[in-house]
Amino acid sequence: MEKQLIWNEVDEYFIDKLLPFDSKLNDVLSENKKAGIPEIDVSPTQGKLLYLLAKIKGAKNILEIGTLGGYSSIWLARALPEIGKVYTLELEQAHAEVARKNIQYAGYQNKVEVIVGPALDSLSALQERGLPPFDLIFIDADKPNNPHYLQWALKLAESGALIIADNVVRDGEVIDEESRDRRVQGVRKFMDMLKNDPRIESTALQTVGIKGYDGFVMSVLK
Ligand code: SAH
Ligand code: DHB
Ligand code: MG
Repeated sequence: MEKQLIWNEVDEYFIDKLLPFDSKLNDVLSENKKAGIPEIDVSPTQGKLLYLLAKIKGAKNILEIGTLGGYSSIWLARALPEIGKVYTLELEQAHAEVARKNIQYAGYQNKVEVIVGPALDSLSALQERGLPPFDLIFIDADKPNNPHYLQWALKLAESGALIIADNVVRDGEVIDEESRDRRVQGVRKFMDMLKNDPRIESTALQTVGIKGYDGFVMSVLK
């Protein structure tokens, strides 16, 4: 069987066994489709991984860079204790509007704040607000800016914070040092920063599944 087909079937098998049927999250994905926003949300099993990591961490102050339709934001919000909050940053007004609707539909409008604009501007604005430091940061926006997002993450995170970045493999393109794809170069620079920063301990996992061949980097701030 072609690799992608078996990856899809195995993902469906895991979803069937491990993720209870969830009409809310399924409806969110169909709303996104109806609204015509790109289908690049994390997959259900990846969303559940984010949820479990946030739970293990006991995360209360979560920052997400790259909201899209709010699918991953909802997974993260579900892991929060009573008092927690997710701040999620999105460039596109149209995506943010869909996300706000979805987040309201899922019942998390008091736990998730969608902030519209270029994330680098929103991050400065967040810093000015003097919020408590973040204990989990999910970086999943424009990959060329990943090095800047890591710098901000280090500024806004507390000691022990978990920093996760999506799409660091891209079909293996990450190892192409000559790549002219700015997204690949953004990820590579991000990896170099991790290599050279003694404040962070990291690992990366390659993944296959309904989103093809990709992966996550996970770091903990000392
Ligand atoms: N985390 C989402 C997927 C995010 S897709 C999920 O798994 O459900 C990446 C998103 O980042 C897109 O919605 C895109 O519009 C947004 N984005 C791109 N450049 C950005 C920027 N400079 N600032 C903030 N968001 C940006
Ligand atoms: C793309 C972005 C993502 O965040 C993702 O998970 C998959 C694809 C993209 O820009 O192509
Ligand atoms: Mg992604």
